[in-house]
Amino acid sequence: MKPPKTVFACQECGSQSPKWLGRCPDCGAWNSFVEERTPEAPPASAGRYVAPAGGGATLYADIASSSAARITTGIDEFDRVLGGGIVPGSLVLLGGEPGIGKSTLLLQTAAHIARATGPVLYSSGEESEHQVKSRGERLGVGDAPLYLLAETCLERVLEEMARLRPALVIVDSIQTVFSLKMQSAPGSIGQVREAATQLLFAAKAQNVPTFLVGHVTKEGSLAGPKALEHIVDTVLYFEGERQHSHRIVRAAKNRFGAVSELGVFEMTATGLKPVPNPSAMFLAERPADSPGSAVLCCIEGTRPILVEVQALVSTSAYGYAKRTAVGLDQTRLSLLLAVMEKRAGLALGGDDVYVNLAGGISVDEPAVDLAVVAAVASSFRNRPIAQGTAVFGEVGLAGEVRATAQAARRVREAEQMGFSRCIMPAANIDPKDPGFAGTACELIGVKSVQEALEHLLA
Ligand SMILES: Nc1ncnc2c1ncn2[C@@H]1O[C@H](COP(=O)(O)OP(=O)(O)OP(=O)(O)O)[C@@H](O)[C@H]1O
Ligand SMILES: [Mg+2]
Ligand SMILES: [Zn+2]
Repeated sequence: MKPPKTVFACQECGSQSPKWLGRCPDCGAWNSFVEERTPEAPPASAGRYVAPAGGGATLYADIASSSAARITTGIDEFDRVLGGGIVPGSLVLLGGEPGIGKSTLLLQTAAHIARATGPVLYSSGEESEHQVKSRGERLGVGDAPLYLLAETCLERVLEEMARLRPALVIVDSIQTVFSLKMQSAPGSIGQVREAATQLLFAAKAQNVPTFLVGHVTKEGSLAGPKALEHIVDTVLYFEGERQHSHRIVRAAKNRFGAVSELGVFEMTATGLKPVPNPSAMFLAERPADSPGSAVLCCIEGTRPILVEVQALVSTSAYGYAKRTAVGLDQTRLSLLLAVMEKRAGLALGGDDVYVNLAGGISVDEPAVDLAVVAAVASSFRNRPIAQGTAVFGEVGLAGEVRATAQAARRVREAEQMGFSRCIMPAANIDPKDPGFAGTACELIGVKSVQEALEHLLA
C-alpha cells in the first residue's frame, strides 16, 4: 500500500503545494502552510462514467420555477438581509466575532421555522445540548420541534439530516466539524472546505436550507475565507461592537438578493430584536451644536439610512500627522484631506485627523465623501453645522462634487427624519424628477467642495 499523500495548504486562502512554503505565493500570508493528508484515493470504478439515474441534461422549459417559495425567518430584518427570506436548498454562511450573537440569531430562526414550517436540526459542535437549551429557554423556544445534536462528526450530521428530513439545518460552527474522509484537524482549511462542500451537496440534493456559523479571525475574515465564500450561496457578517447593544448583519455575497443589504438588531435578554428605524438609532446620541459632526444620507443595499460622521482635528504632537478612519476607507480619508487642503485651502497638513462613523457602521459608498469633508471642516474651523442639515455626494480629485445614485430616496429619508436642508450634488437636482416633488426639504445643490463648505459653515 502506498503511504497517504500529503499536501501543504495555506490556511488563509486554500492554496496547495506539494512542499512546505514559508510564504504563500497566492495570498502572500506568512507561515500559513499546514500539512494536510489528501482524502483516500477513490475506488478505481469512480473514474468510470456512470449514467445518472435521472438521465442527462434537463430542458430549461421543463424545470419547475421555484421563485415564490421563500421561507420567512420570523425576524423581518433578517429576512431583508437574506433578500426576502430563506431560499430552499440554499447554503448560507453567517460569520462574526466571538459572542456577537451568531448562535442567538440562528436559534431564534430555528425556533420560528420549527413552529411555522417543520422540524429543524441544530447541530452544535461548541456547546452541549444543555447549553443550547438554556439559551433557548431565554429566547422562548418553547416546545417547537427543534432537534439538538451535539456533534462534530460531519457524517453523523448528514445521517441525522437524511433521517429527520428537516425544514432547516444549522451547523454551529463549520470550524468544529470534521469529516472522516479527511485526516487533518477540525478547523483546518481542508476540513472546513470538505465539510462545507458536503453540506452544500446535501442541501441541494434534499432541498433543505442550511446555515453555517463561521468564526472570524483577528483580522476580521473567516478562517478559510476565500475557499468558503465560493462554496456557499450567501455570506452574511455580523458588524458592530460587542459593547453596544445593537448589531448589524450585512450580506457580503448573495446569489439571491442585493449585497450590502443590512439588517439592524438590538441584543436583548430575549434575543435579537429588529430595529425598525435604523436612522433614528444611529442618530440617537448625536450631540447638538457640536463641531465635527455631520449627518450623512447613505444607501445601504436597498435602504436609505442616516448616519452621523464624526471628525476630530487636533494639532499633531508627534511631528507627523496621524490620520485614522473608523468605518470608512483609510485611503479615502487621506485623499479627501488632500483635496480639502489643495482645493479648499484648509491647512490640515500639521493636524491629526480622526474620522468615525457613529454606531459601529461601516460605509463604503462614495456618497460618504462630502459628509466626511463637512465633518472635518467643521472640526477644523470649530464651527458646528446647522441643525437639520443632511449631506451626501462624491468628491473628485479636482474638488468637484459628483452625482450619486438614488438622490431622491436619500432626500426622502432625511425629510422623514425631520431634516430641513440637504447639501447635495448640483447634478442630482433635477426639477423634473418626481422623486423630489413636494419635498419639504430645502435642496442645496453644490458643484465643488468650496461651495459646499460655504453653505455648511456659513
Ligand atoms: N441574559 C442576557 N441578556 C442579554 N444579552 C445576553 C444575555 N445572555 C447573553 N447575551 C448576549 O448574547 C451574546 C452571546 O451571543 P451568542 O452566544 O449568540 O454569540 P456567538 O456569536 O454565537 O458567540 P460564539 O462565537 O462564542 O459562539 C453575549 O455577548 C451577550 O451580548
Ligand atoms: Mg455561538
Ligand atoms: Zn494563501
